[in-house]
Amino acid sequence: MTVLPNSPHARDIATVIHPYTNLVKHEEQGPLIIEKGDGIYVEDTEGNRYIEGLAGLWCTSLGFNNERLVEAAARQMRKLPYYHAFFHRGSTPSIELAERLIAMAPAPMSKVWFANSGSEANDHMVKFVWYYNNARGKPEKKKIIARQGGYHGICVSSGSLTGMAAMHTGFDLPIQNILHTGSPHYYHHGAEGESEEDFAARRADELERTILAEGPETVAGFIAEPIMGAGGAITPPKGYFQKIQAVLEKYDVLMIADEVICGFHRTGGVFGCDTYGIRPDIVVVAKQLSSAYLPISAVVLNEKVYGPIRDFSNENGVLATGFTYSGHPVPAAVAIETLNIYDEMDIASHVARVAPVMQERLHALADHPIVGETRGAGLIGAAELVRNKETRENFDPSVAGYCNDRCLDHGLILRATAGTSVAVCPPLIIEEDEVHRLFDRFKLALDDTWDHVNRERLLAAE
Ligand SMILES: Cc1ncc(COP(=O)(O)O)c(C=O)c1O
Repeated sequence: MTVLPNSPHARDIATVIHPYTNLVKHEEQGPLIIEKGDGIYVEDTEGNRYIEGLAGLWCTSLGFNNERLVEAAARQMRKLPYYHAFFHRGSTPSIELAERLIAMAPAPMSKVWFANSGSEANDHMVKFVWYYNNARGKPEKKKIIARQGGYHGICVSSGSLTGMAAMHTGFDLPIQNILHTGSPHYYHHGAEGESEEDFAARRADELERTILAEGPETVAGFIAEPIMGAGGAITPPKGYFQKIQAVLEKYDVLMIADEVICGFHRTGGVFGCDTYGIRPDIVVVAKQLSSAYLPISAVVLNEKVYGPIRDFSNENGVLATGFTYSGHPVPAAVAIETLNIYDEMDIASHVARVAPVMQERLHALADHPIVGETRGAGLIGAAELVRNKETRENFDPSVAGYCNDRCLDHGLILRATAGTSVAVCPPLIIEEDEVHRLFDRFKLALDDTWDHVNRERLLAAE
């Protein structure tokens, strides 16, 4: 792209620090600036239109022009644009939203804590787990086990939970008391001849050995995304969560479900926990909670965890933690309207109808010469790009990046995840014909990528 002087691109380069971006490359190539959107489409400042096949960052479930959400925000803005939840204060939208979340949660839950992003919610989840064990007179029981390849955000403790080296490098993470156990990625980590169930048993065994080696009296919680999103839309191997939960129960270790991507019908069930039979003590939600129209997240706690926290706050005089925007009435009102829309349009039935079409188109890509595995559930999935289908060796990450760029050329936004796969996670409102359009474009980008790797091979052979 030629960056013209005084264009939004030049002004962006001059002023904005972008998340998860190579800042030097960014100055050379400039940003893609999205100006507007409608339905599953977005349009950039040059007038190019794209299918947003990743729903932004796995979040705009209701697409890009839902008037009801705009109205819900405006109505609440006019009535009460802000109030806080400190010192026994509150506002009605957060109360109604908490009731709704407790009613729909995948296991009996007691109380809801509001924050503004998934990272903040996970950070606070860690504080609650620590406070809970201090409350129980178990000050040693503080370690939280996450998984390699998992993503839980970027704050100091949520960034530590994230099991990706790139998120730690240079930031002095992970902090102490955070550990990582093996990834559930069967395609890459399953041993020769090992069934999915046996792989799941091996991972559960590994978790148990870690807990025993650390000392069960020091291990407080285990956190997992039902489907690992940013790690590459990794679905759990058969029986995985049942085996993992049996270990957790044995050692009094809390099950924490990070539903930031999976929550609200993404995987077919209302929550990923419903899809995979997980019984969490704590659930963390964000993103599709408000269709991402305004930032809001929540930590939902069961009574087992909340009870000691309540009593300990009394002993300490106060639960001395909170955000200016915890329970902000405007995003809470938008979240309530989002949940209303999900109910009224019967989004569960919509996903049940469209997801098989998407999964069929996704799995058909497994025959493509550079696709080693396709995986997914509901309206999320990924294609794993490999140089050799036999050995399952991935290309270097530039190839997934190349495919990502070719998607753009074909009017499609997807995401290269973990440097090895390309993920699909469209707005939940996507219709069948749009799913076909999305995958027709994805196939063209894969063909371009196949041509590209062949050209590179020829050049290397010369
Ligand atoms: C599973 C999961 N947890 C937490 C987060 C962090 O959320 P946020 O980016 O809102 O801080 C993300 C973000 O993608 C996520 O995918």
